[in-house]
Amino acid sequence: MTLTGKVAIVTGSGRGLGLAYAQELARQGASVVINDVDESTAATAVDSIVSAGGHATAVVAPVGPTETAKALVDAAFDTYGRLDIVVTNAGVLRDTVLWKMSDDDFDTVIGVHLRGTFTVVREAATRLREQGEGGRIIAIGSPTGQRGNFGQTNYAAAKAGIVGMVRTWAMELKKAGITVNAVIPVAATAMTATVPYFAAAVEADEKGEPMPAFFRHDLGFGTSADVAGLVAYLASDAAAGVTGQAVGIGGDRLQLWSHPEPVATAYREGGWTYEALTESFADAVGELQTVGESFPPLPEALQRG
Ligand SMILES: NC(=O)c1ccc[n+]([C@@H]2O[C@H](COP(=O)([O-])OP(=O)(O)OC[C@H]3O[C@@H](n4cnc5c(N)ncnc54)[C@H](O)[C@@H]3O)[C@@H](O)[C@H]2O)c1
Repeated sequence: MTLTGKVAIVTGSGRGLGLAYAQELARQGASVVINDVDESTAATAVDSIVSAGGHATAVVAPVGPTETAKALVDAAFDTYGRLDIVVTNAGVLRDTVLWKMSDDDFDTVIGVHLRGTFTVVREAATRLREQGEGGRIIAIGSPTGQRGNFGQTNYAAAKAGIVGMVRTWAMELKKAGITVNAVIPVAATAMTATVPYFAAAVEADEKGEPMPAFFRHDLGFGTSADVAGLVAYLASDAAAGVTGQAVGIGGDRLQLWSHPEPVATAYREGGWTYEALTESFADAVGELQTVGESFPPLPEALQRG
């Protein structure tokens, strides 16, 4: 098994995508520190790995505060004697349009996703550098962070911020042999179950039936297990040369996201005054960029409700 002897932390791994990542890392031989705020799902997650012959322990605590980050890294070292892989997956949603979003909606989402990723990776990177044997950091982004989404100010900020941190950490941790990548997943979980557009796919998944090809292929929308293989790959020695990347995955689809690059560049001697921009902006920059994700119309047979 490719990850035998390795030790991983997966935040928010009581259920959903985090659980699938933890189970796949364990299947590949890694010992896993499970983390969740929900004690019973954390315990069930540990049981699922142990009963399949793997090794797992749980830390029940909310990511965000530095104390939790320390508790997670301590659990890896105290229980298994080392640390190799960190997956920062824990997340919550507080969706609403900007003008209805409270300070608490904003702070909660930023606290779990952005601060939770920062504090856990800061603690892990410190200890991985001391250990001196390289490592793997896998942070979780979202299509919303890449392109924006209606009603998700807080989440878009957090997820875009995570990819910004990933690019920075890939540079800062390169010398220590620690790779840092973002996974941009799409999957049927509690987080997506209520989106009407995906209802037919979620319905098939719940019945244990294969999801329609329209979802798996055209939309890159599948199960949590479809995402887990990429996390195990990025955690492995095979991906030693992959760092600073944002990799999209879902259903049958794998994508490499570009980093922002200027798409049009124009020069004007003396600089771009208001008058010059008023006259020439449209010609100088060309076609404007789109925002948000655009989904194709749902085939009639897959429409629900
Ligand atoms: N499902 C998707 O299609 C999708 C798409 C893009 C990104 N993501 C991201 O993937 C990650 C997992 O999403 P999911 O769909 O599996 O969601 P989920 O709600 O099924 O699971 C999230 C888990 O995180 C736990 N959690 C919440 N706050 C926590 C905290 N402070 N500390 C520790 N654990 C906490 C929850 O209890 C839950 O078990 C999230 O970061 C999410 O933003 C999911």
